[in-house]
Amino acid sequence: MSITNEHVYVMQLDQLPILIGKEVHIKNESIALFRLSNGEVRAIGSRCPHTNGPLAEGIVSGEFVYCPLQDWKVSLVTGHVQPPDEGAVPTYDVILKNGEIYVSL
Ligand code: FES
Repeated sequence: MSITNEHVYVMQLDQLPILIGKEVHIKNESIALFRLSNGEVRAIGSRCPHTNGPLAEGIVSGEFVYCPLQDWKVSLVTGHVQPPDEGAVPTYDVILKNGEIYVSL
């Protein structure tokens, strides 16, 4: 049996400003989208593992986002919280096609 992820259209790329996160809801997932300064788009779970801070409102630096509540640093590549803090959020593959953003679920 093979399971194929579904690519869900999220928004136009130009609706996502660089370094300004945006929270979207797809199916039952709450996802934070980020457009990095190198043009790549990342998608991670939107809630900080500490106490559910809204990661989409965090400050982006390189390939990390700092939670707006108590500054936990979360990788936009792996979803892992950086030490000394612990935890992780899910990550989602992003596909850019014809100026549109799709997330793989
Ligand atoms: S909720 Fe994110 S650091 Fe506390």
